[in-house]
Amino acid sequence: MAPGDPSQAKPKLIVAADPAALAKAAADRLIARIIVANGHRVAICLSGGSSPKQMFELLATDAYRSRIPWDRVHWFTGDERFVPSTDSRNNMAMARKAFLDRCAPPANIHPIDVNSANPKEAARHYESELKSFYGADHFDLARPLFDLVLLGVGPDGHTASLFPGYPAVEETRHWVTDVPKAHVEPFVPRVSLTLPALASCHEMLFEASGSGKRAILTRVLKDGEDLPANRARSQGETIWLVDQAALPENFRE
Ligand code: 6PG
Repeated sequence: MAPGDPSQAKPKLIVAADPAALAKAAADRLIARIIVANGHRVAICLSGGSSPKQMFELLATDAYRSRIPWDRVHWFTGDERFVPSTDSRNNMAMARKAFLDRCAPPANIHPIDVNSANPKEAARHYESELKSFYGADHFDLARPLFDLVLLGVGPDGHTASLFPGYPAVEETRHWVTDVPKAHVEPFVPRVSLTLPALASCHEMLFEASGSGKRAILTRVLKDGEDLPANRARSQGETIWLVDQAALPENFRE
């Protein structure tokens, strides 16, 4: 099965009672992935947007902070808005503020370089950084790049910055690509990992909470529409972690 191949294993659905329970479940799954790594280096790919904020903040609390071996966990991002790192729309800036800057060694934080000349150059730089971290230019299914990839889903069914109908969704040669225009807020250029890069993980964990997600989850989970959030699959386990408010009406797996 090639990474990103939609025929990969069917996603698993986990339903949390509310956003707080969902954040805890996501944080617990991250801890479990670190434990499974059994002392080896760990690579976590963070999602952008607002959904993961509560989980990120949990990681900085004593209950979680004390259980994470910060010296051997590396933090990446699945996509970035091409805005300065000081801009509140910058995904890695939110993660740094929520927990990374207080907990992780700076060398273990791997942002997309928004000081590059343009999104295409930023994408090339990040791809080189990922390949250097991975130690190879091609994926080995026996050795995924990430232990855990966190993702969200936008109102149009995008994930990371892979928007429906955009060429970036079909990119299979590059690990990271530029997205010159976004058709949803924030309307800024993006840099995004591609489906094969996102697929190279032991676990892909989507987080979606609140009634505002019910409509798109109906299209993705119930109707199975061919949207980027449905194309994205781990070569390992793909999980949709949603709360009751986001669950489609009368949804049964
Ligand atoms: C981004 C994200 C994007 C996000 C979804 C959901 O850069 O915007 O990577 O894919 O996960 O748009 O965003 P919310 O969590 O804010 O609903």
